Amino acid sequence: MHPHTNAARQAKLDRADALGIDKQFISTLVETFYARIRDDAMLGPIFAERITDWPSHLARMKAFWSAVLRGGGGYTGTPMPKHIAIPNIGDAEFSRWLALFDQTLRDIEQDPGATALTSRQAHVIAESLLTGIRIHRDGVLPVQRGGSAE
Ligand code: HEM
Repeated sequence: MHPHTNAARQAKLDRADALGIDKQFISTLVETFYARIRDDAMLGPIFAERITDWPSHLARMKAFWSAVLRGGGGYTGTPMPKHIAIPNIGDAEFSRWLALFDQTLRDIEQDPGATALTSRQAHVIAESLLTGIRIHRDGVLPVQRGGSAE
């Protein structure tokens, strides 16, 4: 049906393995990051109000990052509506989230390539979540006017 799927998946897995992005790396990343999030003055309260079962949130986040970085199943969530439902999160909160995430990556670093790849993915997903939030909040995206005469 999709003859390239397996090869692409294998390439992703091979790249992750070569960078040491394995179960242990993802587990350490998620555990360390959310410990810092919970301690953070800006972001801690947002999570504290919404997450009652931390072990299951951490398990979900490990499955999410495994799907992003290694591919395959295990994560079946829907991040976009969950974040759109959080009032008043915007640029400042996402910048803080990314700063804590990148600092965590540097602190646990074994391979700079793993830091770079994981950070890049986080920034792309954060931008996509922010775009979804803006569309929801403002109704539309700002229109980029072309050069046509009007
Ligand atoms: C200001 C930044 C952020 C805040 C305050 C935030 C907060 C939250 C909260 C409170 C939840 C739990 C929602 C619920 O269960 O109802 C959640 C879930 C989640 N977040 Fe974030 N988040 C942020 C940014 C990000 C980013 C940048 C990513 C990915 C790179 C991410 C990935 C996820 C995922 C995968 C879930 C689980 C969704 C599901 O399947 O239920 N979040 N987040």
